[in-house]
Amino acid sequence: MDLKIAPSILGVDYGRMNEHLAELAPFSDMFHVDVMDGNFVDNLTVGAPVVARIKTKVPLDCHLMINNPHKFIKDFAEAGAYSITIHAEASLHLGDDIQKIKDAGCRAAVALNPETPVDKISKVLPMLDMVLIMSVHPGFGGQAFIPEVLEKVKWLREHYPNLDIQIDGGINDQTAPLAKKAGANVLVAGSYILKNKNPAGAAQKLRDA
Ligand code: DX5
Ligand code: ZN
Repeated sequence: MDLKIAPSILGVDYGRMNEHLAELAPFSDMFHVDVMDGNFVDNLTVGAPVVARIKTKVPLDCHLMINNPHKFIKDFAEAGAYSITIHAEASLHLGDDIQKIKDAGCRAAVALNPETPVDKISKVLPMLDMVLIMSVHPGFGGQAFIPEVLEKVKWLREHYPNLDIQIDGGINDQTAPLAKKAGANVLVAGSYILKNKNPAGAAQKLRDA
């Protein structure tokens, strides 16, 4: 599986968002857009209107940490999302919501919180382009990686050799090798890249890790 680095734009300078993203673009395979509703998680970030203002050729990977994701799928698709991830814990009708994402022309992904077993998505797995394994509790950047979630990555990689498996939370040069070894091929990194004095070097370290 191709390795992809997806900087999380949670820590982007929103006052100069497009300039900042242009600096990150040369070493980014996707931009990971963390969408939080202050309800599913205890934090509030950006919605579709902000995503629509992003000017970049880098594909936008929208991670919806929101309740009732079905209400917003169309908005994010129209705002230019390449891929839309909904949470298994938040979706009321997972199969229908995944189909909605596909019908809107986007790649479809489902995220699992650290405690949520893979069983929760066994029925819909064949429909998915990507699974996101959360390696922190969603809501905030800068938290410590939870290694126990790697068991889920291993199981998924064994059973779905061609699936994109994304890992999100606490990824740095120490944890990236563990995630890769378990089978993750899409690495989201927030603080490790954005808080680094040399973001390009940090991204390269994740690639080489
Ligand atoms: C957490 C978000 C992450 C976050 C990762 O809820 O889903 O994408 O930005 O940040 P780091 O890499 O700092 O853990
Ligand atoms: Zn995320």
